Amino acid sequence: MAKAKTTAFFCKECGYESAKWFGQCPACKEWNTLVEEPVYSDKQPKGVVRMTGNTKKAGSHANPTRLSEISTEDKNRMSTGIKELDRVLGGGVVEGSLVLVGGDPGIGKSTLLLQMCNHMAAAGKKVLYISGEESLKQIKLRAERLQESNDKLLLLCETSLDTIEQVLKEEKPEIVIIDSIQTMYREEISSAPGSVSQVRESTSVLMQLAKGLNISIFIVGHVTKEGVVAGPRVLEHMVDTVLYFEGDRNAAYRILRGVKNRFGSTNEIGVFEMMDKGLEEVENPSEYMLNGRAEGASGSVVVCLMEGTRPLLVEIQALVCDSNFGLPRRTAAGTDYNRVNLLMAVLEKRAGIHMSSSDAYVNIAGGLKVNEPALDLGLVMALVSSFKNRAVSDKTIIFGEVGLAGEVRAVSQVQVRINEAVKLGFETCIIPDVCMKNIKKTDKINIIGVRNISDAIKLI
Ligand code: TYD
Ligand code: MG
Repeated sequence: MAKAKTTAFFCKECGYESAKWFGQCPACKEWNTLVEEPVYSDKQPKGVVRMTGNTKKAGSHANPTRLSEISTEDKNRMSTGIKELDRVLGGGVVEGSLVLVGGDPGIGKSTLLLQMCNHMAAAGKKVLYISGEESLKQIKLRAERLQESNDKLLLLCETSLDTIEQVLKEEKPEIVIIDSIQTMYREEISSAPGSVSQVRESTSVLMQLAKGLNISIFIVGHVTKEGVVAGPRVLEHMVDTVLYFEGDRNAAYRILRGVKNRFGSTNEIGVFEMMDKGLEEVENPSEYMLNGRAEGASGSVVVCLMEGTRPLLVEIQALVCDSNFGLPRRTAAGTDYNRVNLLMAVLEKRAGIHMSSSDAYVNIAGGLKVNEPALDLGLVMALVSSFKNRAVSDKTIIFGEVGLAGEVRAVSQVQVRINEAVKLGFETCIIPDVCMKNIKKTDKINIIGVRNISDAIKLI
């Protein structure tokens, strides 16, 4: 194995290389961006991943292969035993893939992966759970608490990647969990575990192991204050799949979101609820999100969003009241603050509703974060409803994108959204007029098309 000869400092922003550390990068003038990285003497840089395929040994020349000649049969998918997780992964774990599971500390990453390990070990797979954070006893206690513990599951407490590499080569497990990448270290790198160079180097070693030994590896990564895994997306481009586990730590539900997936679609979500016996799958998230809705309250509107291929009903709440100060207060929890301001400006200019001296608070109930354009019309209606103090019917669902001219524009997957509304017993659906021709007539729900926001406002 190549030994690191020296180390140098590289700027994370512009790549400037220097022999000594600076607080400010001399090239791009960014502060605190220089990190220590090893410099290798041999020609092939460390971290180069040799994909199994047509490439020969380094040095000899490689032959391109026809697409039709490549067999894809060896990309087997294994079920994790957790339906919501399978869905986010695109139908199961792909052999030899590297998956990053990110999230705030304490959100339930270890719990989810341990549950997955139990299921997979029970299904006869060789599973190794490597923890750098908890002792074997702690893991055992947690596993017992989950009441699904499986005796075949292998555990290892280790933080040295060189040791882990050896173990993987000897044991040849099919599934490996690394909990967490921030505790792992490589001896050749002098910086502390969790630093950018350690995390990057560790991940590239794991990448080589996953591809070389055909092991599916799950890496747990804690998210930093800025909301990214260990610095500026150093890991995301290396791995095959990136999943984020999010949710309010105080609320019981958790959302697993795919943000990158080389083997499936992204933007799929899995919904879980944290119970005292671990995470439980939520089969009907819409019902769950609308739980406990206040009836007949003004400023409350239900919209239908798409999360990947799945429709999800959420409640938007708006509270508009007179401002006591010259500068009105506005907040948006769970959605884009600037979008709320923009829609209020559209309302003012295009519908003649003057809210410039009103405070406005917008909240997506349930602590969900949503940014889809289909939310716009619901948001507008919630604001108007609260401003006029007139409730929108409980049984009405609204969606559509609002343009700057106050027009209501088309959104995708209208039929799927309407079906979800029917399923949950809604009676009226307000949708963009341009989408009317694409939907099947049904007597189960009254569908109204609107051209602009004034039309929609007249309906309430
Ligand atoms: P954990 O998986 O340790 O979080 P992470 O690995 O993301 O840091 O989850 C920890 C939280 O979940 C902890 O605060 C306790 C809670 N929890 C339950 O509510 N029920 C359970 O059965 C388990 C195992 C944990
Ligand atoms: Mg953990």
